[in-house]
Amino acid sequence: MNYKEIYTDSINQPEEFWAAQADTIEWYNKPNTILSNDENGYPLWYKDGELNVCYLALDKHIQDGYGDQVAMIYDSPVTQNIKKYTFSEVKTEVAKLAGGMQSLGLKKGDTAVIYMPMIPQAAFAMLACARIGVTHSVVFGGFAPHELAIRIDDCKPRAIITASSGIEIDRLIAYKPLVDEAIELANHKPKKVIVFNRKLGARVPFKKYDVDYDALVYGSEEAPCVPLNATHPLYVLYTSGTTGKPKGIVRDSGGYAVALKFSMKHIYNAKEGDVFWAASDVGWVVGHSYIVYGPLINRNTTIIFEGKPIKTPDASTFWRMIDEHKVNIMFTAPTAIRAIKKEDPNGDFIKEYNLSSLKTQFLAGERCDVATLEWYQEHIPVPAIDHWWQTESGWPMIANMMGVEYLPIKPGSVGKAVCGFDIKIFGENGTELGPNEEGYVVLKLPLPPGTLLDLWKDNPRFQAGYLNKFPGYYFSGDGGFKDDEDYIYITGRVDDVINVAGHRLSTAEMEEIVASHHAVAECAVIGIHDDLKGQTPLALVVTKHGEEIEHYQLEQEIVKLVRQQIGAVASLRNVVIVNRLPKTRSGKILRKLMRSIADGEEFQIPSTIDDEAIVDEIIEVLTKYQIGCYK
Ligand code: COA
Ligand code: AMP
Repeated sequence: MNYKEIYTDSINQPEEFWAAQADTIEWYNKPNTILSNDENGYPLWYKDGELNVCYLALDKHIQDGYGDQVAMIYDSPVTQNIKKYTFSEVKTEVAKLAGGMQSLGLKKGDTAVIYMPMIPQAAFAMLACARIGVTHSVVFGGFAPHELAIRIDDCKPRAIITASSGIEIDRLIAYKPLVDEAIELANHKPKKVIVFNRKLGARVPFKKYDVDYDALVYGSEEAPCVPLNATHPLYVLYTSGTTGKPKGIVRDSGGYAVALKFSMKHIYNAKEGDVFWAASDVGWVVGHSYIVYGPLINRNTTIIFEGKPIKTPDASTFWRMIDEHKVNIMFTAPTAIRAIKKEDPNGDFIKEYNLSSLKTQFLAGERCDVATLEWYQEHIPVPAIDHWWQTESGWPMIANMMGVEYLPIKPGSVGKAVCGFDIKIFGENGTELGPNEEGYVVLKLPLPPGTLLDLWKDNPRFQAGYLNKFPGYYFSGDGGFKDDEDYIYITGRVDDVINVAGHRLSTAEMEEIVASHHAVAECAVIGIHDDLKGQTPLALVVTKHGEEIEHYQLEQEIVKLVRQQIGAVASLRNVVIVNRLPKTRSGKILRKLMRSIADGEEFQIPSTIDDEAIVDEIIEVLTKYQIGCYK
């Protein structure tokens, strides 16, 4: 196949292109309408098709004679446990859980929140929801009860599915009490909480709304797959935006299934039966698309890994996993490789394992620095492919399409536009920029199947955040440029979203929390460069007049507050006190200036600044506390 030809086809004849791709999956009713518009004029794919994503992920393979193929490998270094499930076993478990959920009154049109560690039951819960038309919303386990409560109030689940506990390296995290606390905090009260008891640590108190997961599965009949419209919301996944309130990205069913099948074949070059491992978490979009739905729809063996790249037990874990499970295609975040590289710079662990099964290593979730890519390439002789996507897109928008044509890798670039994504670089006024000119990364509508349908119950925010800035285009929130061979380079977010260890977080949300501290008059949270995590947040605060508080005490209190409200995953460690924040004369906080100062980049003091002296003060404070480039 030739990349240029297939890509051009997908852009010039999108309906024909995606009509042909629709034939690669099985429908109860094939769509007659390939592309249409919703009531707001936003493109919809396959609107009159009927299918069930759980059927495609499980039942279909059993009917095709692959019931005994391993569908899922659970590898948990933190509990020293490995367990394999065939497609038939997963289907039985999922269908019975779905039957149990139906007996609790859950049905098509309801929502359910899933808050679980990386155990097979998290994937079973997602698939059980998909089976009976319940829209799931998975919340990452590293988020605190307050964050969970925000999501509960937004998507109003009829039930929550959780586990008694998770393990962070060697620390037991009791999940169930966090769910109880979130329900207390939320206005919406779910009717049932289905609890998978892992029997680790102390027994957690039983609440009136609790249902035991095992008992429910054991006592239930298998539920059949419910035929669903292609535009039925398979899930809502919350992600950080530029305000304190997370955005509920809505994913359809039909377009998503077609796009995932297409991507498994054309981007990841995964053959049916291959072992595909995305070392992420079901709480993120990578987990939805490439731990659960994509590999299973493509009849791959997927891996549920309950561990970390290091410390479980050491930096050899990834290589042990590849060797032991004969992984063919792997996906991780550059942070994970940086963590391994730091512990094992010469790649000594790598030499102890047989990695011959591995065909390709994919990287995404954050910018991949050239040094990390080169370290990987020096030690492992398979292509390391950086590729770019977002929660919103659901699947890669820019990549080296390994199943189409392997294009030479240019370190620092995320590759070329993927089929269906018409990517342009715009200047501030909406004119397209030329080669090597940096601007906004935008995508011409219609986006291809599988991308976001809307924001959950908030179409005005969807329009305002993504569609209004450049009419006719989707605004990605990222900056970047194309070179003269159409390779694309992503230079980072152009808004207040930051990326910490591949986790997307909102500085606006952190600012709201920091500002709620009684001693804080005003504050700014910025993302500064971190060698391991890519970025980490730094809070600059101005204390209230007359407040006598020691820097150390204020820092401790603010760090604790952010951990309590957002969760440990926010990784806020540094808080500095300044007399004033740099602002324009009209009062706009100059965050970019502060970021450049902290990162040691060249910066220009804007002529609109109200007081130039503040720049020296910031440098002085960062030097005193050895933060950013002043370490
Ligand atoms: N449940 C509860 N707590 C969690 C959690 C979860 N699922 N995930 C992370 N946390 C906690 C951690 O325990 C840590 O807490 P601490 O501050 O008390 O130590 C905090 O959140 C920050 O976690 P993390 O960002 O993972 O940092 P780390 O220092 O523990 O580990 C890495 C560093 C690089 C090993 C780790 O970030 C990593 O594996 N990154 C890859 C991320 C990834 O794959 N992202 C994919 C998105 S596509
Ligand atoms: P998320 O929605 O959590 O997947 O985060 C999406 C954001 O992560 C994007 O908008 C980018 O800013 C960043 N991102 C993801 N993949 C890459 C990549 N390969 N290179 C650079 N940035 C990336």
